Amino acid sequence: MEALGKHSLLKFMFISLTLYSIGRCYCLAFAKLGASVVVNDLMDPETVVQEIQKLGGKAVGVKASAEDGDTVVKAAIDAYGRIDIVINNAGILRDKAFINMDDKMWDQVMSVHLRGTYKVTKAAWPYFLKQKYGRVVNTTSTSGIYGNFGQANYAAAVSQ
Ligand SMILES: NC(=O)c1ccc[n+]([C@@H]2O[C@H](COP(=O)([O-])OP(=O)(O)OC[C@H]3O[C@@H](n4cnc5c(N)ncnc54)[C@H](O)[C@@H]3O)[C@@H](O)[C@H]2O)c1
Repeated sequence: MEALGKHSLLKFMFISLTLYSIGRCYCLAFAKLGASVVVNDLMDPETVVQEIQKLGGKAVGVKASAEDGDTVVKAAIDAYGRIDIVINNAGILRDKAFINMDDKMWDQVMSVHLRGTYKVTKAAWPYFLKQKYGRVVNTTSTSGIYGNFGQANYAAAVSQ
């Protein structure tokens, strides 16, 4: 646990208005372990940034889409000079019975979950290689393992 404190954490995504949002939990948990955190979300990440700072942790925010992985990773490099851990956690649902699902609903979910994961990880990869160290954590779902009614798009996107 102490070693983790030496690493900067790219916390990809967080927030949501629910107290139990998974991204926020990742951020606080890693900050408590001493990681320097980048809080990324489409929404303003300042609430969680300030929550971490008030607890004595290190955090900066970047309001951007996960699909803009270069911007997200640049925020980590600008703030901390390195990036050690990427947590791909951004997510959306566009549930619909498969017969009624349209291309837009399919593409939106693929863009956030699959392309977002690819873009942030891809942007971090050169730093991982240079450092000879890097870790990627992808949030998935039981829908990605077992499938679920109305979630053909989501199940496919999170089974990576
Ligand atoms: N809540 C559950 O029961 C559950 C179960 C299994 C998996 N998951 C997965 O866990 C992750 C987090 O779930 P949650 O319940 O905390 O969701 P949430 O809706 O509370 O939070 C998702 C966050 O992702 C952000 N986001 C959406 N698109 C984005 C983008 N393009 N770039 C950056 N941020 C973006 C949203 O603004 C939101 O703050 C998701 O990937 C979700 O699919 C959730």
